Amino acid sequence: MKYFTSYLPSYLLFLFIYSSPLALAAADYAANAESAIKVLNDKWYSTSTGLYNGLWWNSANAMTTIADLGLIDDSFKSTAEQIISTTYANAPGTNGGTWLNDYYDDEGWWALGWIAAYDLTGNLDYLNTAISIFDDMTTGWGTPCSSGGLWWSKDRTYISAISNELFLSVAAHLANRVPSSKTNSVAWARAEWDWFSHSGVINSANTINDGINYTTCKNNQGTVFTYNQGVILGGLVELSAATGDPSYLDEANTLANAALKALTDSNGILTESGGIEEDSNLAQFKGIFVRNLAALHKASPDAAFSAFLTKNADAIWNSDRDDPTGFLGPHWQGPFATATAPSQSSAIDCLVAAAAVS
Ligand SMILES: *[C@@H]1O[C@H](CO)[C@@H](O)[C@H](O)[C@H]1NC(C)=O
Repeated sequence: MKYFTSYLPSYLLFLFIYSSPLALAAADYAANAESAIKVLNDKWYSTSTGLYNGLWWNSANAMTTIADLGLIDDSFKSTAEQIISTTYANAPGTNGGTWLNDYYDDEGWWALGWIAAYDLTGNLDYLNTAISIFDDMTTGWGTPCSSGGLWWSKDRTYISAISNELFLSVAAHLANRVPSSKTNSVAWARAEWDWFSHSGVINSANTINDGINYTTCKNNQGTVFTYNQGVILGGLVELSAATGDPSYLDEANTLANAALKALTDSNGILTESGGIEEDSNLAQFKGIFVRNLAALHKASPDAAFSAFLTKNADAIWNSDRDDPTGFLGPHWQGPFATATAPSQSSAIDCLVAAAAVS
């Protein structure tokens, strides 16, 4: 086989791959994402609340993927900017005039959303919003487990993986965008990774459970959700960029490969455990994973990652889309069941990720 592949001229391989009539181009995935966003907005977005179906943290994620599409699709940029500025103006009105609440994960989603909005627009109001949210997140640091880590919420009754991953990711994103506080942000991100990687929440299969029992300070064996395998990837990508240390990318690749092995069906389609029909929040998670896998692929390209992302985007479009409404359901392998704002925006994340890696 070695003889065969070295004999075959590489330009022929190139032609073979790029002339396949089945493969969609980046522009096709972006066009599909645009049309799915139109469905999302027409059905669930309220300009008066700036939210999708009144949902708080989910709306931060929907906004993030809209910003991400604006970054790679010029024809969508002004639409994205308009949605984002409407959300910026109106969403706090539903939450006592603030982006903060008692849940550090909710805060982290919005901080990442405003960073994505800043990346798209250069608007410093958005970046400053992320900074002030991050400042509040730092007040959650200091669990009984090695005196580090972030609590899940201000009542300090749970240590979740997700709030810790978000804290790392927000700190590392800020490190690359706010030079004046880079030293401090890098220190927070490193402290979080040091704590997280020694906490036991990453299990022996290199997948991440839901949290840590704060009495025993051990992995609580909670469900391995897709989003917990995702947010850490984007955080480590940013931390590697901020520090110039490629070992963070190695760690991210290990986690990404373990997730692809553990959380896909026999056809390679990402699959969430648990009652995704009963709890529409769960439908949001897969999009978070693929968004962050695309970020890892950009920093550390891997043909297996891009193939996974396009395959999942194709499955969504071909098997999980209702016709003619354009609704996208929670099971990416199909068949289409029912759509919610989280299932729609999560699937859009995958279309955007496929556009980004194609
Ligand atoms: C934490 O572990 C202790 C000791 O095993 C157990 O009694 C307790 O129920 C656990 N807490 C949670 C929230 O699972």
